[in-house]
This record gives sequence, C-alpha cells and structure tokens, in this order.
Amino acid sequence: MHTHHEHHHPEHHHGDDLAELLDLDAEVLGDFHAGIVAWVGEHAGDPKRIVDLGAGTGAGTVRLLTRFPAATAVAVDGSPQMLHRLAGHAARLGLADRVRTVVADLDDGWPAEVGPAELVWATNSMHHMADPVAVLRAAGEALTGGGVFALFELDTFPSFLPEDQGVGRPGLERRLAAIMTRHRATDMPHLGGDWPATLAAAGLEVRAERRFTAELTAPPAAAGRYAHASFTRTRQGLAGDLDADDLAALDALLDERHPASVLHRTDLVVRAERLGWIAGRPS
Ligand SMILES: C[S@@+](CC[C@H](N)C(=O)[O-])C[C@H]1O[C@@H](n2cnc3c(N)ncnc32)[C@H](O)[C@@H]1O
Repeated sequence: MHTHHEHHHPEHHHGDDLAELLDLDAEVLGDFHAGIVAWVGEHAGDPKRIVDLGAGTGAGTVRLLTRFPAATAVAVDGSPQMLHRLAGHAARLGLADRVRTVVADLDDGWPAEVGPAELVWATNSMHHMADPVAVLRAAGEALTGGGVFALFELDTFPSFLPEDQGVGRPGLERRLAAIMTRHRATDMPHLGGDWPATLAAAGLEVRAERRFTAELTAPPAAAGRYAHASFTRTRQGLAGDLDADDLAALDALLDERHPASVLHRTDLVVRAERLGWIAGRPS
C-alpha cells in the first residue's frame, strides 16, 4: 500500500489510488462482474465491435472480450494512465491485438476514432460526464442497427464493516456513507440520478433493467486491500467532514499496525450493488 509512504513519492497522485481501487474491485468482485456480463450477453447477441466508455483500468473491457471471443474493443478514457494500465492487463491476458485505446475527454464531443459498435458499455463512468445526455446521444448514433447500450451505475459505494467496527463509535461506515450522499448531491449531481429518464432524453429506449447485488461473507484474500483502497479514497474526500473520533477510527482501520486494521480483520463482508440498463435505438 502507498499510504504510509506517500510523502516519499512525489509522483504519486490520487489517480493511482483510483486505478488500484478499480483493479481490486475487479479482482474481489470477479463473480459479480461475470454475472453482469452474462446478463449483457443475453441482450447483445454476438457483438463484433464493442466500445467501453470511461473504461478505467479495463475491468469491463477484458471481461467483455473474454465473453465475446469474436469481438474487438475500443476502450475510451480521459486518462492516459488508466488506459496504459488497461493495455497492460489486456497484454497479460493475450488480448492486446483485440483492444484499441482512445484517450479522449467525452465532454469534448464524440471521438472520431471510435467508429460504429454493436455494443457500447459504460460502467460507473456516465455520472462523471458534464452532460450525460449528449454523450449517450452520440453513443446511440454510433450503434449499428440492433446494437445495444449497456449502462451500469452504482447507487451506493461498496461496504465492508460490521455495525460495530471495534474501534471508535459503532456505525462509522454508515456515517461515512451519509456524508458521501450529501457531498455527491453537489459534487456529482448525476450519481444516483434517474438513468432511464436520461437514456430516454438521449433518444434511447430501455429494453431491460436489473439490480445486481453481491454480499461476500467469505471474501477472497484481496478484500482487505480492496477495503483499504476504498477507505483511503474516502479519507481523502471526507477528512474535513469527520469529527476527531471518527477520523481516529478511520485512521486505525487504515493503519496496518492497528489490530482493527482492515488489512488484518477476518470479519469483512463485501457488499456491492450495480444498477443496469440495456437500451437501444427505437425500432
Ligand atoms: C469510476 S471509473 C470506472 C472505470 C471502469 N468503467 C470500471 O467500472 O472499472 C470512471 C472512469 O471514467 C473516466 N472518465 C471520467 N470522466 C471522463 C470523461 N469526461 N471522458 C472520458 N473518461 C472519463 C475516468 O478517467 C475513470 O477511468
């Protein structure tokens, strides 16, 4: 983990934390993601050209390429670092020749290099867009006849701890979630938004909708590092809103020398959810 050494690494920045979090999410919640991709497969037929919008480190891209062996994918992201990591994952999995990366800020318009697609996929990226309707409309135009847009967004962030986390006052994670919900109303107004309405405003018709939930009571070993990466980001975002007790408790959870540290505990339960919609151009 970088946390205790952060000041020794001036090149370290928060984007690396997000990249690490995304990779750990993909590792710990592998079966969960596989179920989501299987559902998309029921609606997408056998796409040959896939576009992943806001692809991050490629959790979705590589799963889609594995599920659809005849497909190639274009991974679009505003961050070259994310796409660099994505290319590394793809290469290790022998998928390099089936992925093209495009660095583009989707708020600046639809990138010309993307081309048409039978499947456009966007997971937890549309809420980052300044104008999601504009991006969804452009994506809809890139869809071939019969093509589908698979949109996934989260309503709540993953959680890990029991109600009494054993350090500080019980209920820490609930209080963190409540503060986050308050923040996002101003910082990220589209997160938790009305996505069916947004899809409709972009001229897309919703064909299927599903809520996916995971509750891993015996999570894989990487769950501790996943929780650590998640709480590290929470601390970066919310430190100023926490009282001294809660901040001390959060620091204990992040301190690998502390007995309550998420890196040691055996009582972590990983809970996650995603809301998914399959949409297409009206026939
Ligand atoms: C929360 S991550 C999700 C990554 C990936 N889809 C996943 O589920 O693991 C959001 C991603 O969207 C990208 N992103 C945010 N705003 C963007 C924009 N305006 N244009 C392109 N990419 C953007 C970020 O760089 C980041 O990689």
